Amino acid sequence: MISSVLPTYNRAPLTFVKGEGCWAYEADGRRFLDLGAGIAVNVLGHAHPALVDALTSQANAIWHVSNLYQIPEQQDLADKLVAHSFADTVFFTNSGTESCELAVKMARKYWYEKGQPEKTDIIGFEGAFHGRSSAGIAAAGSEKMVKGFGPLLPGFKHLPWGDLDALKAAITDTTGAVILEPVQGEGGIRPMDDADLKAVRAICDDAGVLLILDEVQCGVARTGKLFAHEWAGIQPDIMMVAKGIGGGFPLGAVLATEDAASGMVAGSHGSTYGGNPLACAVGNAVMDIVTTPEFLDDVNRKAGLLRQKLEGLVAEFPDVFEFVRGSGLMLGLKCKAAQGDVLQAAYDADLITIPAADNVIRLLPPLTISDDEIDEAITRLTKAATAVDAAQKG
Ligand SMILES: Cc1ncc(COP(=O)(O)O)c(C=O)c1O
Repeated sequence: MISSVLPTYNRAPLTFVKGEGCWAYEADGRRFLDLGAGIAVNVLGHAHPALVDALTSQANAIWHVSNLYQIPEQQDLADKLVAHSFADTVFFTNSGTESCELAVKMARKYWYEKGQPEKTDIIGFEGAFHGRSSAGIAAAGSEKMVKGFGPLLPGFKHLPWGDLDALKAAITDTTGAVILEPVQGEGGIRPMDDADLKAVRAICDDAGVLLILDEVQCGVARTGKLFAHEWAGIQPDIMMVAKGIGGGFPLGAVLATEDAASGMVAGSHGSTYGGNPLACAVGNAVMDIVTTPEFLDDVNRKAGLLRQKLEGLVAEFPDVFEFVRGSGLMLGLKCKAAQGDVLQAAYDADLITIPAADNVIRLLPPLTISDDEIDEAITRLTKAATAVDAAQKG
């Protein structure tokens, strides 16, 4: 008999009932060190006092009004995002998937309003993940996600990750946009290097197509800049955000330049919940913390520390791990052992990590992780790797 929750997830037999900072408490009392942060969501850890305060204060004032009315918290958050990014304007969503929907619509509407309605094609890259809606799966294009869900939204092409020659060759008169994650998350923590990202921007400029960056996973200070593309010194035309921006409250956004957004006039898009007072109250509290130079400096310092210790771990367990890759506190351990064995051994050591494609284990800790917690993470990863190594040598 089918379960009362649609059985689309493979859940671990773990039930977390309380969280505090980088720690999540299982119903049986075990205390897990959380290097998953709800898949890069809890950027400030669990139960951060500023977020709890923002949420409860707003809950006591007003929860929801709809976008038929003025929402001061939404206006404040839009102003902050505009002040701290390339963007001139922001639309709020509830998830990364919805941000993808709007990014695709915005790009197509742009060309339609510019009198070039044939420019509907969007070029993406293999290994991408942009969400599970029809546009999201068409944009990513992987067999696993699209099989059985056709007919797909037309107009998407996919190129090998980082193949810039293929990109130049693939752009035609019907190309409207290029979409990519500066650091692929689900694809196995695969960063595009800064020079390549710069080159992609230049190719888009030369060809006159829009660049959509998906920063749903790598954005909001995760890589040590507020947005990952800042490392390459480039700017997108349209950017998708979600996950970290709500710190655990469902919130997403599409940021755009005035030009890229020019087709999106009153009535062309909308959302009942998007940018509601509760979500934006939390989003404002997140932004107030993650945009300070001290916060970003600290993320970069800790990222260096964690990476250095992970390199040591890889050297110590060459039969378990191959290498570390990633950016900031978005790191992937490419496994030589079966990824599932490493994940399970980490659970057995009361440590949460997240699997990704390419036999990679993702480490996406709260950005507030302390130096002691980094040490503790390495102790637990060492314990897990020792167990996997011993089992392999059996
Ligand atoms: C890069 C990227 N884009 C889009 C999404 C979809 O976001 P959501 O699950 O909030 O709809 C994800 C989710 O993992 C993601 O990592």
